[in-house]
Amino acid sequence: MFQKLKQRWKVNGINLVLIIATFAIGGSLCGRVSSWIITYLPVETKWIEILLFIIFCTILWPLSVLLVSFPLGQFAFFKKYIGKVFKRFGGKQQNTNATINIAIFASGAGSNAQQIINYFASSSNIKISLIVCNKPGAGVLSIADKAGIPTLLIEKERFFKGDNYLPELQNFHIDYVVLAGFLWKIPPALINVFPKRIINIHPALLPNYGGKGMFGHHVHEAVINNQEKESGITIHYVDELYDHGAIIFQAKCSISQNDTADTLTQKIHVLEHQHYPKVIAGIIEK
Ligand code: GRF
Repeated sequence: MFQKLKQRWKVNGINLVLIIATFAIGGSLCGRVSSWIITYLPVETKWIEILLFIIFCTILWPLSVLLVSFPLGQFAFFKKYIGKVFKRFGGKQQNTNATINIAIFASGAGSNAQQIINYFASSSNIKISLIVCNKPGAGVLSIADKAGIPTLLIEKERFFKGDNYLPELQNFHIDYVVLAGFLWKIPPALINVFPKRIINIHPALLPNYGGKGMFGHHVHEAVINNQEKESGITIHYVDELYDHGAIIFQAKCSISQNDTADTLTQKIHVLEHQHYPKVIAGIIEK
């Protein structure tokens, strides 16, 4: 049963436990509040009391679970869940094929991939379905393993000159490609198949400090060497040039005199983890 629920809600074990706890605590909270309200009402007949209890519970249940879902970190799940319940009662037909599948392309430590996986773990309609990597042994591969997400290790020749691994992406019904520390240029054929559906994050404020060779430490070193007062992140659509597609979002951080490329890397990672998953969600929901 738990296995089925995990699949149906597309959540991992921990989130499933938290969701069940939210249902239980939220349900009992709404029952208690309803009974408490009724004690203040001048109701003498038992059946009217029961009727009022049912009405109050129906009204208060969504609010209670949403309230409880906050501290348990399940707000996104319950927001969608309650939306679905309302739609069902409103008679609107549910589209059961509405899952949006994301492939994350990453070849590094995978801290951004981890944040994105966590963020969408409780989503009812957005799923991280595949991790694509070009470096055997990259940290992101073990992150994928732990999260139970399939991985695809790709090699250069086929990526650039062959079928670009399109059949595999299609097998997983991929709708969006999210780059999170993937250094190869995306071939035009893939860009054509996923128009405005390939998103990248760059660890600087584009159009500055972008382009070929501007990745990882090189970016931060260049920024520090130029004595910039601020840097930041840029989330953008991918086109056929490095770090060039339309900018979707930027966030800044200040640079102090003591900052080094290492400390700037940390500041940038904080910004990336804070914003990237949310921006992806925003793009998909739009
Ligand atoms: C990030 O800084 C991202 O901006 C860049 O590559 C880095 C990947 O870091 N494209 P991680 O592997 O997600 O930790």
